[in-house]
Amino acid sequence: MDKPKLADLRRDYSLEELSKSSVEADPFSQFAKWMDEALESAVIEPTAMTLSTVDNDGRPSSRVVLLKGFDGDGFVFFTNYESRKGSDLTANPHASLHFFWPDLERQVIIAGVAEKVSREESEQYFASRPRESRIGAWASKQSTVLENREELERRVEEVGSRFGDGEIPCPPFWGGFRVTPIRIEFWQGRQSRLHDRIVYQLSGNSWQIYRLSP
Ligand SMILES: Cc1cc2nc3c(=O)[nH]c(=O)nc-3n(C[C@H](O)[C@H](O)[C@H](O)COP(=O)(O)O)c2cc1C
Repeated sequence: MDKPKLADLRRDYSLEELSKSSVEADPFSQFAKWMDEALESAVIEPTAMTLSTVDNDGRPSSRVVLLKGFDGDGFVFFTNYESRKGSDLTANPHASLHFFWPDLERQVIIAGVAEKVSREESEQYFASRPRESRIGAWASKQSTVLENREELERRVEEVGSRFGDGEIPCPPFWGGFRVTPIRIEFWQGRQSRLHDRIVYQLSGNSWQIYRLSP
């Protein structure tokens, strides 16, 4: 069979509709509703989101991280503070979070400002992680060059024997960021590329809601 031409690949969306009158008054309730539906759906890794950051020279970069919690204060993920994303956010806290849930024909795009969560919050979450992940956090100098795979495995073994059966504390260079949103877009695919886009924009203390052209 011939390989399909990329330019010929297209899917029409028709599952749902979205309007200013059908969404919740605040974006966190709307996000909670969509996240619940994503969790109930067949979407793989519904909490996986693309985090985009910008470095000191204005160069953007993106990668997937997992959403570990959200509330009216923002969206939380955990990482190595000395990683590329960690140093980007320290230099420039502006960040974008992006979810794509293909089974639901939906995307959510969050623009906001990131800050480190409290040490207590990072330690509490770190303690809930499997032992292997806690060892991995100590062993991996995230985003730095490794000579080979063996170097990483050697570091994992060293860290494992250093801590033995004892408690593995949260590394000082590891923890959470909370992205406090200033804008959240909810996108629902519609037929013929005439998609529904509803945006919440923070204005003072309240959220303005408007529709964008697809
Ligand atoms: C599904 C998935 C989930 C991931 N979750 C995380 C995460 O929660 N935290 C993290 O630091 N990296 C996570 N990663 C790895 C990152 O995508 C990335 O490779 C790593 O954080 C280094 O990024 P950086 O060098 O741009 O800082 C995940 C990757 C995938 C594919």
